[in-house]
Parts: sequence; structure tokens; C-alpha cells
Amino acid sequence: MLWKDKYELGVPTVDAQHKELFKRVDLFMQTLRSNLDWDDKVERVNETLEFIKGYVVEHFKDEEAYQQQIGYPEYSAHQKIHSDMVLYVLQVSEQYENSGFSEQLMQQFGGKLLAWLINHVAAEDQRIAAYVKEKGVAGNE
Ligand SMILES: [Fe+2]
Repeated sequence: MLWKDKYELGVPTVDAQHKELFKRVDLFMQTLRSNLDWDDKVERVNETLEFIKGYVVEHFKDEEAYQQQIGYPEYSAHQKIHSDMVLYVLQVSEQYENSGFSEQLMQQFGGKLLAWLINHVAAEDQRIAAYVKEKGVAGNE
């Protein structure tokens, strides 16, 4: 499991979503790395990709709502990072479909997605927790 408890923000909804994302990206990477032929794993890869595409949008919305609720000063910058990521995922996904489900494209994307997730949750999202700690605000969750 790629998840580490130190990634927790102390916000139950957001933490549960982060854990779910790590689980799905983990599964995605395991499928991509397995020794099966591409034809045998493409269906599972596509399923997980579709799930991640939808889940990421929902999670970002919830996390942004929390940031607004606590008056997080870096909300706009953070929202921009989220929307850039959504755009990137949608672009790759479209490219992937147009390529007829290119394995190479998904292998590259998987690595980038994993690196982005770890970096974002471990660094960028932790700044929210640091703000809460510093200001003593907690929101409603
Ligand atoms: Fe975030």
C-alpha cells in the first residue's frame, strides 16, 4: 500500500477520499505492471481509469469546499493546481482513446499520475493541515 498515515489531514471525508485514490492508483499501477498481455489487461486499465477520472473531480470539489469553509488563503492557487490536473487527465484520456488504447501512453501516464498524487497529497495538501494547526481553525468536519 502506498498510503502513509502521515498524509492524513485530520479531515475525515478528505482523508477517506485520499486513501481511496491511493488504493485505485495503486491498483492501476499493479495492473499496468503485471506480466499479462496488453489485450488481457486493457479492460481493467480502462475501468480503473474511468473511475479515477470521475472520482478525482468529486474529491477536488469536496477538498476545495473544505478549504473555503476554513478560509484557506491559498485556495485559488490550489484550485488552479486541481483544475490543471483534471485538464491533463482528460487530455491524456482523449489521446488514449484516439490512439486505440496505446499501452505506451498509459504506462507513461500511470507513472506521472502516481508521482503527482504522492507529491500533491504529501506536500501541497499538507499545507492545508499546517494552516489549520497554525490558525486553530477546524471547519465542520
Ligand atoms: Fe488538493
